[in-house]
Amino acid sequence: MAEKQFNVAVAGATGAVGNQMISCLEEMNFPVKSIRLLASHRSVGRTLRFKGDLIPVEELKEDSFKGLDIALFSAGGSTSKTFAPNAARDGCVVIDNSSAWRMDPHVPLVVPEVNPHAVAQHSHKGIIANPNCSTIQMVLPLSPIHKKYGIKRIVVSTYQAVSGTGKKAIDELFDQSRAMINFLDCQNNVYPHRIAFNCLPHIDSFLDNGYTKEEMKMVNETRKILEDDTIGVTATTVRVPVFYSHSESVNVETKKPVSATEVRSLLEKTPGIKVVDDPEQNLYPLAIDAAGQDLTLVGRIRDDESIPNGINMWIVADNIRKGAATNAVQIAQVLVKDYL
Ligand code: A2P
Repeated sequence: MAEKQFNVAVAGATGAVGNQMISCLEEMNFPVKSIRLLASHRSVGRTLRFKGDLIPVEELKEDSFKGLDIALFSAGGSTSKTFAPNAARDGCVVIDNSSAWRMDPHVPLVVPEVNPHAVAQHSHKGIIANPNCSTIQMVLPLSPIHKKYGIKRIVVSTYQAVSGTGKKAIDELFDQSRAMINFLDCQNNVYPHRIAFNCLPHIDSFLDNGYTKEEMKMVNETRKILEDDTIGVTATTVRVPVFYSHSESVNVETKKPVSATEVRSLLEKTPGIKVVDDPEQNLYPLAIDAAGQDLTLVGRIRDDESIPNGINMWIVADNIRKGAATNAVQIAQVLVKDYL
């Protein structure tokens, strides 16, 4: 029997994540019957390549989704808030990369290796949320640890690439770096301070509790995906002058006794993860190795000697691929396999 094919749209197609979504649909051989590439009016007149064809970029409008089956959204939170319900009303399932719908109790928040069953809940609103990039790569190794040992508390510090902010931030790091090495003045337009040769402990806006929205996304989304509100999570999220891949230092305290050796062998068997952990050979996860591929790299796995049941680890993944586009297309794969 011929494989079923789907009419697909990418909203935000000209952006860093949208562009990668188009490539992932192609690379992952998603059964695309037709594709519509949507962006703002500024991009009308541009074309983007899909499977060798040049596809015109259209302006995203209320009626853009008629006759479509699936729309991958990465055009910012306000665009998702406005247009995702329209798309869903027209019978098109939205997989949304923004934070607009993630904590809606009727919207599933899915990392396919962790909670694919949650996709079933998409029928409530016709929207499925793609989690925050830092959260995706953290819950991937933490999920098997939680199942086996029960996680009590997570303390995470992130080192996040500028591509998470979008194309303008990639250009800003490049322009500032070039200016700096040529002893020229440089401008900040995207971030409140210079990002080149600097670290900013500030991602997304600050909240009344002193944390940033990015930090609270890690707290709330981790609990939702792992389906356990009792897990304590505390996060410090930092922007660093790296183009692609987020790195994370993660400390986990478990309920049952655990050891670094056990965690290493558990993660070696976990789909989507590659353990890179041979410090004597200078082998540990690096942003430059994670970039451009889909595995989440885990290393520096150590017993936390300050508490009875604790583990430290270093987790790195490509924030645009597994942290966004790849995860969204994997959700679409679950959707078409089991639900469409
Ligand atoms: P455009 O390129 O036309 O501005 P990034 O996160 O890399 O900055 O990309 C954001 C993406 O979201 C781009 O494709 C951008 O399109 C799109 N976008 C931003 N605002 C809107 C909007 N109001 N309507 C449709 N697309 C939008």
